[in-house]
Amino acid sequence: MQDLLDSALDRIRSAQNNEELEAVRVEVLGRKGVLAQLSKDMGKLSPDERAARGKLINTSKQALESAYEEKKAGFDRAALAAKLDSEWMDLTTPASGVPTGSLHPITQVQWEIEDLFRSMGFSVLDGPEVETEFHNFDALNIPGDHPARDMQDTFWLDVGKNAGGWLLRTHTSPVQVRGMEKLGPPLRMIAPGRVFRNESVDASHEHTFYQLEGMMIDRNVSVGNLIYFMKTLLTAIFRKEVTVRLRPGYFPFVEPGFELDIRCLICGGPGCPVCKQSGWVELLPCGLVNPHVLRMSGIDPKEWNGFAFGLGLTRLAMMRYAIDDIRWLQSGDLRFLRQF
Ligand code: FA5
Repeated sequence: MQDLLDSALDRIRSAQNNEELEAVRVEVLGRKGVLAQLSKDMGKLSPDERAARGKLINTSKQALESAYEEKKAGFDRAALAAKLDSEWMDLTTPASGVPTGSLHPITQVQWEIEDLFRSMGFSVLDGPEVETEFHNFDALNIPGDHPARDMQDTFWLDVGKNAGGWLLRTHTSPVQVRGMEKLGPPLRMIAPGRVFRNESVDASHEHTFYQLEGMMIDRNVSVGNLIYFMKTLLTAIFRKEVTVRLRPGYFPFVEPGFELDIRCLICGGPGCPVCKQSGWVELLPCGLVNPHVLRMSGIDPKEWNGFAFGLGLTRLAMMRYAIDDIRWLQSGDLRFLRQF
């Protein structure tokens, strides 16, 4: 009997896991276990044997129970440690926070230019993207039969026979007309916005892009004033002197008209797809407002004159951030946008 109890004690001590331990407990200490059986058999013994057996059973039971408790506590501790390990988290780690977006590069450049021109007394105007043929062309000295209409391939809207011509504006210049009509001279305004052309898209041409119009009407405005404002604008945006060139440019609403190009900041001059291998990027057409345009908007050209410019805002953003393909800007690709 002593052997039986010793081997039970051994099995308890050497149990590898809770299941094994529980199996030994049931077998030895359970209601129908070895100890219960030995107690039951005591009735068949003489009083002396019974007393000795009773004593042995009691001490064995105590030894087995305390070995069981000790072993079980060991397993419970190990299980708790494993659980804590698996559920551990570092409460001192800073919270990840709410992810924030950022302004689109075109918006960033636009807002900087708005701040700059506001500081020089200009108002920021807005105009409709769906325009009348009159504001987009006729009032800018481009009547229906004028070849300059072909310079901007237009999306015409089909809005019924008697509604007049409606289109997606091809440039921000109609806001010049709306500004002159609404505010009159003297006038200092800029008008950023989205424009549309039926263009084949490549590295430097989009069908939907941004321009920023500027206009100043006052007394005795000269080409000198125009160049001053253009240089102030470019120096502020690029934060350095950029190489520019001024060449004659034709737009029916300015006279004289110029094309102000900047040295390509993507390739630095030798030529690349953005500057069409020319080393120069066409950025800022401008000129003195044609007297006929002033007259059509009810302004007397004998008293007032002015300058106007139409900045390619999308291209300016490309130069500012060295973006080598215009298609990135409207791609919606987060890998691109997260860089700004
Ligand atoms: C005009 O749109 C005239 N309204 C500008 C103007 C205003 C001249 C006031 C004189 C006085 P132009 O078609 O060249 O001009 O376009 C102006 C600028 O828009 C260009 O210099 C170029 O930077 C940009 N641009 C033109 N077409 C595209 C295009 N498809 N994609 C991206 N940018 C373009």
